[in-house]
Amino acid sequence: MDRAIWLRAVKVVAELDCLFSLAKSSMAIGEPACRPTFVESESAFIDFEELRHPALHLKGDFIPNDVRLGADVGRIMLLTGPNMAGKSTMMRMTAAGVIMAQLGMLVPAKRARLAPVDSILTRMGAYDNMFSNSSTFKVELDECCKILRDATPKSLVILDELGRGTSTFDGMAIAEAVLHELATHTLALSCFATHYSTLTDDFAHHPNIRNMHMQTMVDDDKKELLFLYKLVEGIATGSFGTHVANLAGVPIDVVTRAETISKDFAQKLQEKQAQKKRSNIPLIMQADFAYLVKLASGAISPDANPHKTLETLKILNQFVKNQPL
Ligand SMILES: Nc1ncnc2c1ncn2[C@@H]1O[C@H](COP(=O)(O)OP(=O)(O)OP(=O)(O)O)[C@@H](O)[C@H]1O
Ligand SMILES: [Mg+2]
Repeated sequence: MDRAIWLRAVKVVAELDCLFSLAKSSMAIGEPACRPTFVESESAFIDFEELRHPALHLKGDFIPNDVRLGADVGRIMLLTGPNMAGKSTMMRMTAAGVIMAQLGMLVPAKRARLAPVDSILTRMGAYDNMFSNSSTFKVELDECCKILRDATPKSLVILDELGRGTSTFDGMAIAEAVLHELATHTLALSCFATHYSTLTDDFAHHPNIRNMHMQTMVDDDKKELLFLYKLVEGIATGSFGTHVANLAGVPIDVVTRAETISKDFAQKLQEKQAQKKRSNIPLIMQADFAYLVKLASGAISPDANPHKTLETLKILNQFVKNQPL
């Protein structure tokens, strides 16, 4: 009897502790902060105006950003930008904003409107796990596998530089295949940060993909980069890794040599791609046409989820419309 009363008391105190902590953190996030608006919808969407990172903004000079995914804009944000431009921070801040909103806290934004997500699935950073016999690349793939298995049109998926754990070409191929699966079949709200320019080329016409980048200004002569930390439409012009190496204090001889190698590599890659490009339709889209032919001939049965089939048809329809005759 005594034990039961104590347990109830502990539960009540724990709940109060939680509520006080939420209230206190809501007060600590500064201005502007807002109470989010929730909307009932078949698939999730998020719309934050002037969202800030709840921890980083305490530094004082944090640049807020408008973050929108789904509803009347593409469900997948393909995010590019130089090293150190703020991509990972932007994605972490988005996940934190959604968690805070769904926890019942105030959100560090001017305005927040969302259809709730059922899960947040992430693949960020690089680490290994000796005890489960997993290398860095294996951990990356395990997490990616979980995302592809569990994500639904109501999930939020964050993928930060998928594919960097292996050779450039295999990395690009895996990133491209995963992005295609998310954008054409899974349809989860997704932020996909990458330094692979082939992705932005191959998915240029995909109606679910919105190309965004973190704005920077470059001074090529002084090898200087100015980070504006603003999330804007379009594709970044490069990763400027050698500029960042210069900024980090890598000896100038090494930076200059790296620049020569980088230019040489980029040129070879461009030549290779030009040789390979025999069709206007990227290989990844050709696979979708093959899927439709099989569907029409009865070789495979339609997806159990009619929403997915409809979206695939919409994407192909849009793609055909965009092709020059
Ligand atoms: N919106 C912002 N306002 C002010 N500072 C920011 C903002 N976003 C990021 N920063 C600062 O820039 C640093 C680098 O950001 P981040 O790690 O997100 O870059 P990144 O684009 O992911 O780089 P990489 O490609 O090397 O992974 C952060 O540690 C943070 O201090
Ligand atoms: Mg990063």
